[in-house]
Amino acid sequence: MSSVEKLTILIFGTVFLLMNCSQNKVPTKPFGVLEDGREINLYTISNSRGMTAEVINFGARIVSLKVADRQGNFEDVVLGFDNLAAYEKDNSYQGAIVGRYGNRIGGAKFTLEGKTYQLDINDGANCLHGGKEGFDKKVWKCRQISPNVLKLSYVSPDGEGGFPGRVKVTVTYTITEDNELKIEYRGVTDKTTVLNPTSHCYFNLTGSPENDILDHELMIDADYFTPVDGGLIPTGEIRSVVDTPLDFLKPKKIGQHIDISNEQISFGSGYDHNWMLNGQPGQLRLSASLYDSQSGRMMEVLTDQAGLQFYSGNFLDGSMTGKHSIRYKHRTALCLEAQSFPDSPNKTNFPSVVLKPGEEYKQTTVYRFSIK
Ligand code: BGC
Repeated sequence: MSSVEKLTILIFGTVFLLMNCSQNKVPTKPFGVLEDGREINLYTISNSRGMTAEVINFGARIVSLKVADRQGNFEDVVLGFDNLAAYEKDNSYQGAIVGRYGNRIGGAKFTLEGKTYQLDINDGANCLHGGKEGFDKKVWKCRQISPNVLKLSYVSPDGEGGFPGRVKVTVTYTITEDNELKIEYRGVTDKTTVLNPTSHCYFNLTGSPENDILDHELMIDADYFTPVDGGLIPTGEIRSVVDTPLDFLKPKKIGQHIDISNEQISFGSGYDHNWMLNGQPGQLRLSASLYDSQSGRMMEVLTDQAGLQFYSGNFLDGSMTGKHSIRYKHRTALCLEAQSFPDSPNKTNFPSVVLKPGEEYKQTTVYRFSIK
């Protein structure tokens, strides 16, 4: 190849790269500075129909999700805060990716390949959502792939929170043209470990967290749930939902049975349980739907996970002030967290969450929005 040809290729290559980069350039702006001086950015992803998510690389948190109502008004359907300091202090996991282990591990301990691991204790005697400083409090690397795709990654050192293995996780957020927020997780480890991340968005489909979510109609495609004890640790039993307030097989208002006299409801102070989803784990399937008749917004949850934690915002008590100075009162939002079952590392009859070197953890969960 002559030097003129080489130069021509170089020039064309550079122009192509620059064009590509400028096409992929998506709004990124500073969100704040952590107490230790690290800078955090806000990234925006959207589709051509106007559905938009804002994400920060602190905890890979979704800080806003704007979705149209029946009249075509775009409103934010997730709770959160206006500033980074509030996210840094937050212990409600607003919009975060939680991990390494979504939900509770009883006694903050488990045994794997003959070795017992002591985890952080941060919820009674238990370990909740990865411990004292889980994925929700970490600074993630963030790469904007295109105007609607964001890829975040975090490397959790061996022993973090008490968990074995150096674990590398990536989370890809996509806003699809079908008005879906798609979340894809990947994870690898260098030692046998357990991994069970989830997304912890607090949804309120009315678009205003001044309203409670008791009139939202929820369907969960699950014939069984995993009852808990007073510390919200599954007992190991897998119980039918039939004739219990946890039957959401047909859409039902969340408020309908939330305050009835029932041991499981009183342990959760409302709903705070894991449903064993129907269908085949590993296959993406429609597992839940949530509808707000006031705004017409419908959200469907598709996941390949074995379980879904439905938490009805029972611990929101008005003491936390969120976006636009709104106080987050009792049950003004709910979480639908796709994951494997809580406390699986201590329950041999629950699906395995063990991840070995050479294997890859994979999860896809989709929150799909429409109008009805
Ligand atoms: C748990 C709740 C907990 C909430 C916030 C949910 O995933 O199920 O028990 O209070 O997260 O930490």
